[in-house]
Amino acid sequence: MTDRLFLDALDLCARKLLEDEPTLGVSFPYVTLPSGAWATMPASVSAGYRDGSWSHGNWFCGFWVGLLLIAYLRTGDEKYLHLADQRLLLVAPRAGDGNTHDVGFIFYPSAIAAHHITGDKRYGDLALRAANQLRRRLIMTPKGSYISSWGPLEDERGRRSSAIDTMANLPLLYWAAAYDSDASFVLAGEAHATMTRTAFIRSDYSTYHAIEFDVATGERRRGFTFQGSADESCWPRGQAWAIYGYVRTAEATGKREYLELAEMLADYYLRRTGPDLVPFWDFDDPAIPNAPRDSSASAIVASALLDLAALHPDDQSSTKWRRQAFDILAVLCRGYLATEPRHRGLLRDGCYSKPHNEGVASAVMFGDFFFAEALCGAVLPGRLRATPRRLRS
Ligand code: GLY
Repeated sequence: MTDRLFLDALDLCARKLLEDEPTLGVSFPYVTLPSGAWATMPASVSAGYRDGSWSHGNWFCGFWVGLLLIAYLRTGDEKYLHLADQRLLLVAPRAGDGNTHDVGFIFYPSAIAAHHITGDKRYGDLALRAANQLRRRLIMTPKGSYISSWGPLEDERGRRSSAIDTMANLPLLYWAAAYDSDASFVLAGEAHATMTRTAFIRSDYSTYHAIEFDVATGERRRGFTFQGSADESCWPRGQAWAIYGYVRTAEATGKREYLELAEMLADYYLRRTGPDLVPFWDFDDPAIPNAPRDSSASAIVASALLDLAALHPDDQSSTKWRRQAFDILAVLCRGYLATEPRHRGLLRDGCYSKPHNEGVASAVMFGDFFFAEALCGAVLPGRLRATPRRLRS
């Protein structure tokens, strides 16, 4: 029964993509506006400080390409593959972008998926360029190494900090290690995962959004937030990025300890989310229950849990996590699909940034992508990317 539900959601996604494509020109959607229309920006907008404030730029463009590829897998219609190829031409220059960790978010769903589906080396080589940029962001300190998330590396503000989101950019490095037969990509990713475990994860397995380090000594200076409600709060999407990243780190390294850590982080996420299975945008917003939700966090977690289930050496745990992923996806399909024609997104009630009042109670491009990725993992396993292989017990 859930299979029908999931396939229908993928069909809705495919229909909306074809309707929206001719309206976009060279821009890419990122959040829906109150009217239901997409807000868009060109792929070329990089991250940086503008008048002293930070802007993430366009880290969404690869997700649109990923959705086109998923629509191709679902329908078999070559039109989608052609559109994805054309869109990748616009995204490609970002592979040289040294300003941000987001090259992982940009090229994992786009070039790497296109390479997996078609075997075309052009896509693989493009993703490898991006992976080199991400690996360069590793900052070495006497206490370990971390990947700097935001900003040009020569800017001290960027060098000294890292965000939990970076964990979900690591799959680009892990993929590159296999593609280029260069294990140093895995070592860089694992170094970051190790430092993140020490610096970002509290004793109750909640996470900080961002950490500032002393670059000279590697000491942790402070935890802070950019998109959460307070420095000491737990931002559910950050928690979701951590779960996703540790599952993929377990897959890349074969180490059970990262799988166990992902389970603890997921337990925390599910306990704080409660039976609705879609969290408020921040677990600790004092305005709860009068606060917006963030459906994208649950989409990311559902995708991570499917991989966790595939990797888990214990049958019972594997079944439990898979069931949990399916339950989340069923809730999203039944209660959060944007079925009305005016609303151009797929998944309602995402929250890009409440503190910046951007994309609140909206569809958000990453929510749509991770939702579709998870649906694909459930009903078209192995087609978008290889299903992870079970770890040794
Ligand atoms: N920058 C990633 C996020 O907004 O979750």
